[in-house]
Amino acid sequence: MRANLIAALDIGTAKTCAVIGELTGDVPRRPGLKVLGVGQARTSGMRREVVTHIEETTDSVKRAVKEAELMAGVTVDRVYAGIAGEHIQAFSSSGVVAVGGEEVMASDISRVHEVAQAIALPPDRELLHAIPQEYKVDHQGGIKDPLGMAGTRLEAEVYLVTSASAATTNIRKAVSRAGYRVQELVLEPLASSRAVVTEDEKEVGVAMVEMGGGTTDLAVFYEGKIRHVASLPFGGLTVTNDLVKGLSIPFAEAQKAKEQFGAAFAQMVDPQETVELPGPSPGQRRHVARELIAHIVEQRLDEMFGLVQEDLNRAGVLDKLGAGIVLTGGTTALHGTVELAQQVFAAPVRAGRPEEGLTGLADSVAFPRFATVAGLALYGADRFKETGEGASTLTSGLVTKVAAWLKEFF
Ligand SMILES: Nc1ncnc2c1ncn2[C@@H]1O[C@H](COP(=O)(O)OP(=O)(O)OP(=O)(O)O)[C@@H](O)[C@H]1O
Ligand SMILES: [Mg+2]
Repeated sequence: MRANLIAALDIGTAKTCAVIGELTGDVPRRPGLKVLGVGQARTSGMRREVVTHIEETTDSVKRAVKEAELMAGVTVDRVYAGIAGEHIQAFSSSGVVAVGGEEVMASDISRVHEVAQAIALPPDRELLHAIPQEYKVDHQGGIKDPLGMAGTRLEAEVYLVTSASAATTNIRKAVSRAGYRVQELVLEPLASSRAVVTEDEKEVGVAMVEMGGGTTDLAVFYEGKIRHVASLPFGGLTVTNDLVKGLSIPFAEAQKAKEQFGAAFAQMVDPQETVELPGPSPGQRRHVARELIAHIVEQRLDEMFGLVQEDLNRAGVLDKLGAGIVLTGGTTALHGTVELAQQVFAAPVRAGRPEEGLTGLADSVAFPRFATVAGLALYGADRFKETGEGASTLTSGLVTKVAAWLKEFF
């Protein structure tokens, strides 16, 4: 088994997907990933990113990871798994410690992190991330890395992300029943941003908007810091349901019609064009103007972008987005989403596809619907440099146990 493998798992509302890759690139600074395998399965047993049926979710996980393993020709035992949903909460917290010696040492930094994240969480909530935002040494603020700086007082600001314990437990359960372990749970919009947003955009100010099946996830950055995350309860499924009602066709047909003929901007569609759809009775077919489908899609997407804008406004970040919006997620495959979003936000909008930092079978994940899973894998690559831990056990279980015992001993 190779030691530098990273595996990622995204259990989305519409599909579950897995990526296995090998660490490459500038490991000490911004590592990359050689994609070796990708697996995908339809998700069942999830609603709006929360597990509702363990057995079904387990099955989707098994199929997606197995497929990725088969393609990669390796097996893994740990995965970086995504988590999202309306139960996520995020807020800033700060802590202060006295610097032990003449200058700030690594031990001072880990102490100040401990203080900053020492908040009382109710028993039904769990801390997912404590992301260091910036440090202050004595009275000088805006410090990214305080190591080695002279001073007597160290202050840290961290961004804490918490989730409902029930949600994390169920993901861990589904993964472990599938025969794997969760290496770390990662907030999905954070992972997606790692794959589709550049560091420069994070400096200037950007909102990553990921429109999936059941939810729309947001992550906002400016001055290089994460400022806001949210999971809004609508996505591509909402659009499909409108087509079910508007065209009187079953869900599966509506989904097909949306993906084949849908457009987010009705103006982009030839008003003369018609498409053939099944009629309400068995064996029946009828012609529908493609413009009608586009109108239904546009109306709903317009409303969804409006709600995203309201959320950004409420969070007080709307006027900080110098680099505009990066749109991603499966729903952005709809022709015209970028143009429609540009109109609603009156800001620069671009489509985000995972590409940067990826080699190997990178083409197979270069689609907006893979932003989360690719980002989880890249997040795993970043973590590898800190922990040195990959997706598979280096050697046999026995040797690992001895290694763990030695670690405890020294
Ligand atoms: N070519 C396409 N045209 C239009 N819509 C598409 C296309 N491909 C996928 N979609 C839509 O994208 C949505 C799924 O997106 P994605 O795969 O990002 O969701 P997910 O990660 O499973 O869900 P979530 O993140 O909400 O839990 C579905 O509603 C699907 O219909
Ligand atoms: Mg998703």
